[in-house]
Amino acid sequence: MTTVTLLQNKRILLGVTGSIACYKVVDLASKLTQAGAQVEVILTEAAQQFVTPLAFRSVTGQPVYTSMWDLADHVRHVGLAENADLFVIAPATAHTLAKLAYGLADNLLTVTALAARCPILVAPAMDGGMFEHPATQANVETLRQRGVSFAGPVTGRMASGLSGLGRMMEPPELLAHIRLSLAQKGPLHGRKVVVTTGPTREAIDPVRFISNRSTGKQGLAVAQAALDAGADVTLIYGPLAEPVPYGVTAVPVHTTQEMGEATLTAVQNADALFMVAAVADFRPGTQSDRKIKKTDEAWGLAIGLEVTLDILSAVKEQREKTGYPRVALGFAAETHDAFEYGRQKLLRKGLNFIAVNDVLAEGVGFEHDTNRVLLLSSAGVVEEIPLQSKTAVAERLVYHVAKTLNGS
Ligand code: CTP
Repeated sequence: MTTVTLLQNKRILLGVTGSIACYKVVDLASKLTQAGAQVEVILTEAAQQFVTPLAFRSVTGQPVYTSMWDLADHVRHVGLAENADLFVIAPATAHTLAKLAYGLADNLLTVTALAARCPILVAPAMDGGMFEHPATQANVETLRQRGVSFAGPVTGRMASGLSGLGRMMEPPELLAHIRLSLAQKGPLHGRKVVVTTGPTREAIDPVRFISNRSTGKQGLAVAQAALDAGADVTLIYGPLAEPVPYGVTAVPVHTTQEMGEATLTAVQNADALFMVAAVADFRPGTQSDRKIKKTDEAWGLAIGLEVTLDILSAVKEQREKTGYPRVALGFAAETHDAFEYGRQKLLRKGLNFIAVNDVLAEGVGFEHDTNRVLLLSSAGVVEEIPLQSKTAVAERLVYHVAKTLNGS
């Protein structure tokens, strides 16, 4: 099976209404198109005061619709609405929200919204307290009760110079909301998934620590792939340079002990655990609460490393009593004899799957954007996942875990 990312070949209908935030939505349309989605745009007359159809046509490569009086367009609304996977209305003005709430259909956008049977996601944008007005709030409530989802608005500076609740959500977050909406049909919808990633850090003194070269990229990709599959994701992570995916329940930790405690709590009712973190295996036996001076030579000898908690072994013990997590996947970083060491770790840590990396191979493991993984179960090799992006590898891992959970 080839890897299919969430947005590839999805049909997104993008309705744009008259707000200064229109210009940002050109960027959104571009990002969606780059991610493989087919984006069809409807512009209202007011939107065209801010941005032209050509701008959207240029980034999407698709026709842009503006009128319901075009002869060719007279049944367009039905076709557009029927074919879409998601109808995104961004920015949505207070006026358009009111029309949607009342079922008014006076332009191609609102007429299409009435005909739409696909999910609708609305990103409001309005100035000067209009969002908080009881009339707008009542309209939002009506739409919510009808199953319409909302992304924002957020608080910040608005076009008038006032600060308040009414700014349209920024395109990257809006894109994340679109992914979450599309993920509702995914194979992990309704499932609780725990992902760990990154290194852990063990302090020597307030300025020094023992850690490793993990950047957390593979675990971040697994968390995003699980979100894209519809899961409710808890991400437990050591210090990272990158932001965590929008939509996860984020649990930042530092030490192996902290990661262990957070993981044992989170898996108590979890369907799946992806233990991707590069956990520090050792910590200083003694920690100084003051910076150790160069002259304190005795400290170098006194640090004496001790072994940290093996988190997966603790999970195994808990799982034997509770049955949770229902499926557990671990990683193995190896420099030689990957298959044999991987197999032994799988059995020792009581895992359903182990993803083995030969970290010395070109393009594999720490600090790379690509990875190559040998996926094993107790039955043997499940899949040799070839060298490809960590995103694509993550999707394969999520695919196998979802298949096990769903019993097919
Ligand atoms: N792991 C863990 N707790 C630790 C160390 C590792 O839960 N204290 C997890 C990792 O997150 C990974 C798996 O165990 O999913 C294997 O990690 P790896 O570093 O390959 O193996 P170790 O158990 O540390 O064994 P060794 O260092 O001997 O290879």
